[in-house]
Amino acid sequence: MQTLTSVDALRRAVNKARKAGKTIGFVPTMGNLHEGHLQLLRRAKHLTDCVVVSIFVNPLQFGANEDLDAYPRTLASDKEKLFAEGANFLFAPSVDEMYPEGMQPQTRVSVPRITDTLCGAVRPGHFTGVATVVSKLFNMVQPDVAVFGEKDFQQLMVIRKMVSDLCMPIDVVSVATVRETDGLAMSSRNNFLSSKERRVAPRLHRILQDYREAIANGFDDYQHLEKHALEDLLLTGFQPDYVSIRDAETLDPITPDTEAIVILAAARLGRTRLIDNVTLTLNPSADWGMLATN
Ligand code: PAF
Repeated sequence: MQTLTSVDALRRAVNKARKAGKTIGFVPTMGNLHEGHLQLLRRAKHLTDCVVVSIFVNPLQFGANEDLDAYPRTLASDKEKLFAEGANFLFAPSVDEMYPEGMQPQTRVSVPRITDTLCGAVRPGHFTGVATVVSKLFNMVQPDVAVFGEKDFQQLMVIRKMVSDLCMPIDVVSVATVRETDGLAMSSRNNFLSSKERRVAPRLHRILQDYREAIANGFDDYQHLEKHALEDLLLTGFQPDYVSIRDAETLDPITPDTEAIVILAAARLGRTRLIDNVTLTLNPSADWGMLATN
């Protein structure tokens, strides 16, 4: 595995692979790699001949009072994991390499509407930061396939819309959320949890599963369910940002045409913000390849 830190070196390396007839897979990350990331890499390896993984903690997607400085940076151990899994290239640029003129004059990619809600409403500017850095990375790597996790469900939808709206010739592939044995969705932010919080954290997934079961059993007063799920989270010790039951295809409220439902939640435990989601297919004959009901 070759580690590259400049856009020029990355372009040269990827062009060489492409000229040799190889297809290019890409897994963008912010590092502190765990099994969830490694599954994205494995999927990219399965689908393409040459895989680039990027590690870049993107300041543009963090709000002023968020955890940019505290975000875990573990490049040495990340490199070992990527090498062991057979990644071809690691792209690990500096902030200056990604934003040579600084953050302020950077052209932004803003995906409308879908970013106004849920995490976009709680973290203004977050998804513009994500869409901007991902589109820059896409232009640098020019992958055939890019792989993202379904844990960041709204992010995945934002990327898919950006790729579609801007006619980017990239196949966006998603991988189901990888969980610890007690159900907690794997996340770099889990490292921030105290041991007491770590014991409580899996309840987020369990509460979502309970409400998915209620819907599967025919309960369709979604506002009532959202209100009770929020109360359950509060009683369990979370400070919820939201629990929301949406159409999994549009992220809009459920309509009679909805074929698949996603229940999304974001909640804080102490200083750690966790997100999770579960999905449910209402019409089992519909093709919901993207959605694993995990
Ligand atoms: O999901 C992440 O780790 C980040 O949002 C991403 C896609 C790497 C962009 O910085």
